[in-house]
Amino acid sequence: MDGDVPGYVPIVRGGGTMHVRMLCLGRHWNGLLYSYEASRSDFDGLAAPPLPRDFRLLANEIAGAVGMSLDADLCIVNYYDAAGRMGVHQDKDESPASLAAGHPVVSVSLGDTARFLFGGLRRRDPVDAIQLESGDAFVFGGPARLRYHGVSRIAAGTAPPELGIDGRFNLTFRQY
Ligand code: SIN
Ligand code: MN
Repeated sequence: MDGDVPGYVPIVRGGGTMHVRMLCLGRHWNGLLYSYEASRSDFDGLAAPPLPRDFRLLANEIAGAVGMSLDADLCIVNYYDAAGRMGVHQDKDESPASLAAGHPVVSVSLGDTARFLFGGLRRRDPVDAIQLESGDAFVFGGPARLRYHGVSRIAAGTAPPELGIDGRFNLTFRQY
């Protein structure tokens, strides 16, 4: 995440600092505007790197394996250290057409296990806690596309040793 176009810690609308390091591929998510753009106008103005073809095909295949249609054109890569977390939110900044079609979010986790919270369509709905382990894919689309979700904690030191990493990478693929 720290090549020519580095990951960074977003500051969101309202001034809060996120508890992840983020890098967007294909299209940049601007956390001040809650919208997508070609270049990182909320950070360093660099263009979002392209989404690698292999990533796109993997995401589309995962969606297809559970009977959903996706032609991914962007990926948000989040890195969580031991203190990383993400408040409960909806993913609703993709195009109205994509959301209406229910094209899923395909989430792929690598590294430390996360406690993932998956709620309902209203913020106050009850949430299920799901352990997302390295290698897990989690897909939410169709009527579940706008379900609230977040990450409440990272189980430090649980990454498979062969990966040689600390922390957790989560890749969420979407179709704008
Ligand atoms: C996200 O909600 O965008 C990320 C979820 C995760 O890290 O599992
Ligand atoms: Mn999300």
